[in-house]
Amino acid sequence: MNTTQLLSDRANAMDSSGIRRVFELGATLKDPVNLSIGQPDFPVPDPLKNAAIEAIATDLNGYSLNQGLPSLVLRTTKHLEDDVGWLCGPPGDPTNPTVLITAGTSGALVLSFLSVLGAGDEIIIPDPYFVSYPELATMCGAKAVRCGCYPDFKMTAERVAPLITERTKAVLFCSPSNPAGVALTEQECADLLELCRSKGVLLIADEIYDEFAFADARTQAAAGDAGSGAGDLRCPSPARLPGSEETVLLIRGFGKTYGCTGWRLGYCAGPPAIVGAMIKMQQYTFVCAPTPLQAGVLAAFDTDMGPTVQAYAKRRDMVMETLGAVTEIARPDGAFYAFVKVPEHLGMTGTQFFERCVEENVLVIPGGVFSDRDTHIRLSFATEPERLAEGLEKIAALMR
Ligand SMILES: Cc1ncc(COP(=O)(O)O)c(C=O)c1O
Repeated sequence: MNTTQLLSDRANAMDSSGIRRVFELGATLKDPVNLSIGQPDFPVPDPLKNAAIEAIATDLNGYSLNQGLPSLVLRTTKHLEDDVGWLCGPPGDPTNPTVLITAGTSGALVLSFLSVLGAGDEIIIPDPYFVSYPELATMCGAKAVRCGCYPDFKMTAERVAPLITERTKAVLFCSPSNPAGVALTEQECADLLELCRSKGVLLIADEIYDEFAFADARTQAAAGDAGSGAGDLRCPSPARLPGSEETVLLIRGFGKTYGCTGWRLGYCAGPPAIVGAMIKMQQYTFVCAPTPLQAGVLAAFDTDMGPTVQAYAKRRDMVMETLGAVTEIARPDGAFYAFVKVPEHLGMTGTQFFERCVEENVLVIPGGVFSDRDTHIRLSFATEPERLAEGLEKIAALMR
């Protein structure tokens, strides 16, 4: 039987060739300097590990409610009240935003796309983008309209406004972003929120890296903004603005912040109609996020990752010092990526430069994997400083 013929148009429309080539070439290297990895290189904090182990040992291994383990829903509700000032209510409450615990941030993205987008609908995404965004839209039969954010990687209201049509259901942005690490300022968040509110469009905020904000960037990102508390190391969010809960679907995750990407845990909150639909979709797809691991992350909001995150700021500085001298880079405000331009004098695409890096035993990702353009490379600095320094020197030498 030719099972290829059985594939849906949806499956045929998925293209993973770009990233697959990175993995294939990477597999041919012996002990490469790997600057391609999208996960932190620190261990999960002990309180989280111990809570997960205890949950398994005490038989908390069955399904949780579709919405999530009640204790984690409550703790997340409290966190959102403290952080963004939202008062979340139970599912079905028509006036307050609802919280949902999801199978990774990806789970929240999938459920939100399924809940909002149908055939012919449009969602505006940044370019460069996190790889899943366009593919998820395709899965829903919808169109991901690219908002070009070069060269500063800011998805501003000014750039988004001309792209809104009567088919636009949502605007999706990510701050600090993957692949550039750039965050929006409070004013830029306010402008984007106002635009979406005035057009009746959902603003989906992918804030998976919300806690991954560098201290100096935080100050810089908030410069001139009112109400940004000193010492608050989170990047500006549209969710902190008054009345935002009617327009913003806030999506966050535990994986990157606490080094537990394999636990597959995220959360979201937002308008009750939208999150209510997502809970229904969860019931018939994921059912729930992994229960004992939900118990594991209960301690997350009380665990200070600040020192670990600030250690990453030093690595960001290494990237800026070494590569800033030879090419153009938007300084990352958070996350652990830099999106680096391949100098024009080399006359190479991002993919060609990536191949040159492979020859030097350094793995990065060609910018074309994250963009309709192929002019940059993404590097991750979630790598121990000695190896990072070695990789950066090799890349700088290639760029000179
Ligand atoms: C911007 C962004 N959103 C979502 C995800 C998915 O994260 P998770 O592992 O929590 O599903 C990632 C992972 O790299 C990401 O970079």
